[in-house]
Amino acid sequence: MSMRLVAAELVESREILPGQWLQSYHAPTMAAGARAGQFVHVRTGDWSGLVLRRPFSFNTVDAATGTMTIHFRTIGRGTEWFTRLRPGDSIDMLGPLGRPFEVDPRSRHLLLVAGGLGMAGVRMLADEAIRDGRQVVVLFGASGVREVYPSSLLPDEVEYVVATDDGSLGHHGFVTELVADYEAWADQAFACGPAPMLRALAGLAVGRRARLGVAKLGRKRGGGRPLAIGSPQARRKAFLQVSMEQNMGCAVGACLGCVVMGVGGTPQRVCREGPVFASDEIAWEAGW
Ligand SMILES: Cc1cc2nc3c(=O)[nH]c(=O)nc-3n(C[C@H](O)[C@H](O)[C@H](O)COP(=O)(O)OP(=O)(O)OC[C@H]3O[C@@H](n4cnc5c(N)ncnc54)[C@H](O)[C@@H]3O)c2cc1C
Ligand code: FES
Repeated sequence: MSMRLVAAELVESREILPGQWLQSYHAPTMAAGARAGQFVHVRTGDWSGLVLRRPFSFNTVDAATGTMTIHFRTIGRGTEWFTRLRPGDSIDMLGPLGRPFEVDPRSRHLLLVAGGLGMAGVRMLADEAIRDGRQVVVLFGASGVREVYPSSLLPDEVEYVVATDDGSLGHHGFVTELVADYEAWADQAFACGPAPMLRALAGLAVGRRARLGVAKLGRKRGGGRPLAIGSPQARRKAFLQVSMEQNMGCAVGACLGCVVMGVGGTPQRVCREGPVFASDEIAWEAGW
């Protein structure tokens, strides 16, 4: 499905956590073509002088009803503008953009790791995986209980494990500390969240093969010749895929505003080569 420019009509808008909104839009062609990990670039109101579009992940899509949702936090003028929209209002959406998560057909057990708003980036993958008969564990990290994504918004089939920095709910500590309990169980892992969380997970993924011991028997992932950076095969073979968020200008590969450094010093545009990368495709210490 190719990229489209569509007029999407707001169906429902509600605040699900303090300053975090879930909006549902009627956009049938967009909903039919989207895959988990992709995003839309949305125009805010011209009248306010906000001409730049804002990127949001596909949070969920429902092709049957032709609707899709976005989940966002109000951090500036653009996102605040969205909260003032009312059902029936129409906005201009460009998408689906970017490369999606790739699930190996052999993978039965998927580990999803979300830090805060990162839930918006991996949420749709849970739906896709369950529809395809896979088992899904979602590890979610937040600063405290007031920031915890409601379990009622996840499919019932998901095992949901929460960590909070202040210990007010679930594990007391970082979400990355929960990974050890699942790394042998998981065939593949997928993450979205703050850059330090992604960097820590990428480090864990590097050491995983050595730690697995007997559990890695029969797993062939990661062997063989290196695959081209950005290829679907490279993502499918990786244990960990990450969805990255950089500030974006054009979102179509032209302005180079969203570049991160790939291994071997090859700049990677998050909007075109990403936002999903195999974790070992990124030079995490390059400080982009
Ligand atoms: C591929 C992609 C998918 C995204 N998906 C989501 C999503 O599903 N939900 C969601 O809430 N947000 C998402 N974002 C981030 C979102 O685009 C920004 O929060 C939004 O553009 C901010 O617009 P604003 O006008 O409200 O804030 P601005 O006035 O533009 O910025 C306010 C403050 O936030 C900082 N900021 C702006 N954009 C980003 C960013 N991308 N990353 C980190 N800091 C930023 C600015 O530097 C500034 O300090 C995504 C970003 C990308 C690149
Ligand atoms: S935002 Fe312009 S190249 Fe990615």
